[in-house]
Order: sequence, then C-alpha cells, then structure tokens
Amino acid sequence: MDFRIFDTAEEIARVCADYYSALLQKKPDAVLGFATGASPIPTYRELIRRNHSGALSFRNVTTFNLDEYCELPREDKNSYYTFMHENLFSQIDIREENVHLLNGNAADLNAEAAAYEQAIGTAGGIDLQLLGIGTNGHIGFNEPADHFTNKTFVVELAKSTVTSNKIYFENGAMPTHAITMGIGTIFAARQIILIATGSKKAKAIGMTVNGDITPRCPASVLQFHPNTVLLLDKEAAAEL
Ligand code: PGA
Repeated sequence: MDFRIFDTAEEIARVCADYYSALLQKKPDAVLGFATGASPIPTYRELIRRNHSGALSFRNVTTFNLDEYCELPREDKNSYYTFMHENLFSQIDIREENVHLLNGNAADLNAEAAAYEQAIGTAGGIDLQLLGIGTNGHIGFNEPADHFTNKTFVVELAKSTVTSNKIYFENGAMPTHAITMGIGTIFAARQIILIATGSKKAKAIGMTVNGDITPRCPASVLQFHPNTVLLLDKEAAAEL
C-alpha cells in the first residue's frame, strides 16, 4: 500500500483522473469500480471535463458500484443510482447497459448479491476500484465487525455511518441497511485508489496505514493489497 499527500482536493482529482487516463489508454474496455460520497466528486468532475475535451472516453468501459442503500427507491435523491447518474454517468459517453449498480430493493437480496458477483466475474473482474473511507474505517459499507465478509452481502449500517450520512436525508430518516461488495470483492480489484480528505478522516487513515490488519478497521486489509494507493490531503494524513 502506497500513499501520496496533496494540498488540495483538486490536485487529488487531477492525479486520480491521471490513473484513469493511463488505464483507459491501455485498456479502453476496462472494468471500473466506482464509489459514492463526497470524496470522489472532484474526481468525477475532472473525468467529465476530460471526457468533454475528448481526452478520455468511457464508451467501452463497464462499471460496478460498490454499494447501495436497501429499501430506498431508485429515484430517491439519496440513492446511489441517482448519485452516480447525476454526478457522472449522465455527463459522460458511457453506455447505460454497461453500468451496474446493486438493487437494494430486490425481493431476494441474497440472489441479487450472488448475481452481482457473477456479473463482475463475467466482465473479467475489476481493473480499477475507487474507494472513499468512513470515519470508522469502512470501505464500501463493510462496517467494523468481528470478521471480514468476503462477497457482496447485506449489512446493517453502523451508528457512525448513520451519523455521517443522515445529514443528506430529510428529517434525518435514512435506511438502516445496505447491500455492499464484500472485502474479498474489493480486494480482488487489480488496482485500488482510496481518496480521503479532511481532518475527520485522519484517525481512520492512521489506523488503515499503521494499525493492525483487523476487521475492526476494514480498510486496514488494504495493507496486503499489491496495487493500492491512498490519495490524501494534509488533514487526512495528519496521523501518518
Ligand atoms: P464521504 O464517504 O466520501 O462522503 O466522506 C466516504 C465513505 O463513507 O465511504
């Protein structure tokens, strides 16, 4: 695991977009794992800019998102389906049929999880997975737990996640569960980029880089990954 420290979120976005440019130049039909949350937004803006300038095309890529809330309509402004379409997919030359998001409203969520794993496998596995990190060290919605969960699964959200995310929901009423790629799903990506900015992430980043590898800090497992880079601002890197 490697980390790089920058002054601004915009610099992180440019450097992160450079990884996409390099990958897509080599492999225009790459499989991309995308993330939601505030952290990747500047990168998505930069990817859109490069797409509009003609420097970068998503015409042949396939995408898989990390996670989705359960029991939140797809059309809800807080669904990750809406987030991805508003912040990226509707603004680039991607083909909708190549976009994959988990359905948190599936009647059989276990079958949904199994089908997602199978679809990732059929696509050839994820070339580049983008991640944020929770203040509790979660990646995707792999919350601190007694064990790592390997494959895509349904999870009860941690209190700290509810505290962080309920600001986006009117009256603070937000889903209690989500469906998420497992640690094994994420770990199988050939390349991983984790973005963290702001002092609220400093403790989680300190544990991720220098702490024990433990499911109590799920991101710590990335210490074992052969091709992971953390893109951090100075505030997020304060405990390194
Ligand atoms: P954030 O969320 O980018 O909105 O801070 C990251 C996460 O919870 O994984």
